[in-house]
Amino acid sequence: MQVPDIIIAIDGYSSTGKSSFAKIIANEFGFLYLDSGALYRGVTLFAIENGYIDEACTIDVPALTEAMENLDIHFGKGGTYIGERCIEDEIRSLEVAGKVSPIATVAQVRDFVDRKLREFGRMKRVVMDGRDIGTTVFPDAELKLFMTADPMIRAQRRADEMIAKGDQVDVEEVLKNLQERDYIDSHREASPLTQAEDALVLDNSHMTMEDQVEWIKNIIKERFGC
Ligand code: CDP
Repeated sequence: MQVPDIIIAIDGYSSTGKSSFAKIIANEFGFLYLDSGALYRGVTLFAIENGYIDEACTIDVPALTEAMENLDIHFGKGGTYIGERCIEDEIRSLEVAGKVSPIATVAQVRDFVDRKLREFGRMKRVVMDGRDIGTTVFPDAELKLFMTADPMIRAQRRADEMIAKGDQVDVEEVLKNLQERDYIDSHREASPLTQAEDALVLDNSHMTMEDQVEWIKNIIKERFGC
């Protein structure tokens, strides 16, 4: 399918399968996939390791803001990097998941991540997923999706993913974490998670990946005539 030079912005709740879906369609359309959540997770790992956030999630915002000036976080082979170090596994831990939403409320962190994302988007032909891509980062994106699914189904999917990696997880704990993140993400002051007015809703509670790919291909055909 010959898709024109557009930006596809995918927002939605935690563990709705945004990144799996985004990766698959990027591959299918020959687009670049960019995971904005990975940058928030990377900043969170950096903050944990350097003591800018404590156990109670109190954040030393001035120190973190200053330190981010020299933070070289980027995408490379196999995922996300800080300098030469691949941090892909560490950023998926429950410890990072437990602190990322508080970190993502900090306006200076959001500015830092937004700047990086907009640099990538200049090239078009990207699929980007997150919480505020269609509302704040790329409000002019040509195609915006808002993904959602039943919370228990989401928790089970995330738990299965972690179990497959060899982690021991309790689905109730995963559910609690994603409900907490949904709440913080939707209620924060800086770019809260909201559905853009022109976004199409994709509730994939009972859809397979094939169903979802079929769905978006039909939309692209209708909208862009390709
Ligand atoms: O994979 P999952 O959907 O669970 O989360 P993620 O995309 O890796 O994002 C982790 C966290 O980063 C989210 O819960 C948000 O707190 C934050 N985030 C954000 O605030 N804005 C974005 N554009 C992307 C992520």
